[in-house]
Amino acid sequence: MYVCLCKAIPKSEIDTLIQDGAQTSEDIETKCGAGGDCGSCRHRLDKIIQEASEASSVQISKDSI
Ligand code: FES
Repeated sequence: MYVCLCKAIPKSEIDTLIQDGAQTSEDIETKCGAGGDCGSCRHRLDKIIQEASEASSVQISKDSI
């Protein structure tokens, strides 16, 4: 499934960029160009980043119990 249609960037690539340290949609744009054309995928990028951040927080919480 493509997140960014303009650049043909799949969600798997976005997930990899987040795992490698991308924290904002601007980081993702810098690394692969997603969000830098029409911009209509920016909201989706922000949501994926937020969900990854929340999942990471839950994992940290579980690890500290
Ligand atoms: S769909 Fe991502 S920049 Fe257009």
